[in-house]
Amino acid sequence: MSKAWIRTAEAYEAACALAADNPKAFWAEIAAGFTWQENWEHVLEWDFQHHDVSWFRGGKLNITENCIDRHLADKGDTTAIIWEGNDPREQPEHISYKELHSRVGRYANVLKRQGVGKGDRVCLYMPMIPDLAIAVLACARIGAIHSVVFAGFSARSLADRINDAGAVAVLCSDGMYRGDKELAVKAVVDEALEECPGVNTVLVSKRTQWPVEMQVGRDHWYYEEALHVGDDCPAEPMESEDPLFILYTSGSTGKPKGVVHSCGGYMVYTGYTFRNVFQYESGDVFFCTADIGWITGHSYLLYGALLNGATTLMFEGVPTWPGPGRLWQIVDKYRVTHLYTAPTAIRALMTFGEDPVLSHNLHSLKVLGTVGEPINEEAWQWYHTHIGKGRCPIVDTWWQTETGGIMISGMAGVTDQKPAHAGLPLPGILPVLLSPDGQELTEPEAEGLLAIRFPWPSMIRTTFGDHQRCVDTYFKPFPGYYFTGDGARRDAKGMYRIIGRVDDVINVSGHRLGTAEIENAINHHPQVAESAVVGYPHDIKGQGIYAYVILKDGDAGDENLRGTILETVTEHIGKIARPDKVQFVPGLPKTRSGKIMRRILRKIAEGETEQLGDTSTLLDPGITALLIQGKIE
Ligand code: PRX
Repeated sequence: MSKAWIRTAEAYEAACALAADNPKAFWAEIAAGFTWQENWEHVLEWDFQHHDVSWFRGGKLNITENCIDRHLADKGDTTAIIWEGNDPREQPEHISYKELHSRVGRYANVLKRQGVGKGDRVCLYMPMIPDLAIAVLACARIGAIHSVVFAGFSARSLADRINDAGAVAVLCSDGMYRGDKELAVKAVVDEALEECPGVNTVLVSKRTQWPVEMQVGRDHWYYEEALHVGDDCPAEPMESEDPLFILYTSGSTGKPKGVVHSCGGYMVYTGYTFRNVFQYESGDVFFCTADIGWITGHSYLLYGALLNGATTLMFEGVPTWPGPGRLWQIVDKYRVTHLYTAPTAIRALMTFGEDPVLSHNLHSLKVLGTVGEPINEEAWQWYHTHIGKGRCPIVDTWWQTETGGIMISGMAGVTDQKPAHAGLPLPGILPVLLSPDGQELTEPEAEGLLAIRFPWPSMIRTTFGDHQRCVDTYFKPFPGYYFTGDGARRDAKGMYRIIGRVDDVINVSGHRLGTAEIENAINHHPQVAESAVVGYPHDIKGQGIYAYVILKDGDAGDENLRGTILETVTEHIGKIARPDKVQFVPGLPKTRSGKIMRRILRKIAEGETEQLGDTSTLLDPGITALLIQGKIE
């Protein structure tokens, strides 16, 4: 990929010009830097109306050959994955490319022996242990479609995702450690599987050594199965457009949808952007704090890094345990050069002041990155001054589960950076700002709805099992464009600042949640008649969750009931979706046609009491005063 490595602002300009002028030639040249078993016939075919897009059609490849095999000759002994356990006293692992090759091959052979094959869906529900990375790659090795579910989701959420994907196998661990907590994993899987008749294989990795129930014929210890197979597994030839994985993400309506990414385009784009955005060089150590259960973990902790023969650090624990200096200690311990994290983590660590930072030298750091939510200027400055010591460029990377890779971002040290701005689009990415009626805002300085007007290799291909939903969600709102769901501002130099979601999606600690999804969960509580959920500004989490709840038959709300409502949400989705504030209300602001005016609910949750806007269409205008009176501080 050396030709595709951009190291100067001029080269960036030239790449943008070429990509805009002749996108097929541009992407063909980048794709040629990867190993293909067969060359493609068509670089790009596309139609946004039905969202029928293909990249490198006719080409055959296996992403794991590009992530592992092709590095064996000159990097076989280089560390591919450093694993740091939850407890700093635990022995870390350094997995070389050679070792990764054999561990992935062995896991792949175990899957095959269980009858898992190309096109089968496999669900992974595991903590951040090496087996998670290895199992993901093993699926890709044999052409099985992985669907990783973050191990903080509840049994119900897991069951929904397993069933939606039609998964035949689940890969998990016995238990997990997270900070000072020990949590069950296999037991959650067992509970989920009561609702999942299609799963016939469960492979269990050992982490906590807890006794777990094993269902004969279905459940197997991975380490036992591994004894029966060798570690050489040929890479399955995959069509460029074959699905590589499904990853569920929340939208503004209905249940989370399974975003599908393809093998070829995803490989080309994540490999290209990893190298260019982070300016990774041989010998560097890349530390992405995201869990592999989210897209950031997929694209940059794992695939993008390994595609570049990088050393990537996988951390099982949390930034604040056993103390607030944990991340900085890891940086020094492994001489981390690149730190990629979420603004929420930075804001949380800021609250401990500089002392935990000052006891570490952080000399090794070269590049800092953020992702997942807008970073406020104060957090940006703190990160820049205290962590980067004023000398490390910060890349504020804007992208989404659906985009597969980074879309708008600086390239570290190459293009300009501006606090709290994601910056310029990457070469080949053509963002536009639209007015609510779909007109492109052509002035350089503008604020509007963010959309993309040309395909890029790692874009979402479909939503699993329901292509129409994909078309309706992303391509129908503004014909001819991919609609992101975000609002953004552009400055005179063309740099973008992402403002946040314009739909009913909220971003809590960088995690995406649909308000409808949380309302559904709350409504399962036997005493709840109706609820409405909105986001509100939260100092640490970016957005907090505010729930307005109407109880049945004049029930009075108290702390106890509030607690059981939170429990219901935990049971239906997971702890990450628990509302921060629950206000019991006698009614909701509805129009005569029964539509909830969320704009008013948002304002009240934000603490606005005067400027509520037009309330004349409300069925019961008096309700707003009652809501303001009972607001939870
Ligand atoms: O609102 C944007 C926000 O996160 C959303 C995508 O969430 P998800 O699919 O979970 O992927 C997160 C990790 C890529 C976007 O619609 N977002 C992501 N990155 C940024 C951001 N908001 C502001 N600045 C960013 N750098």
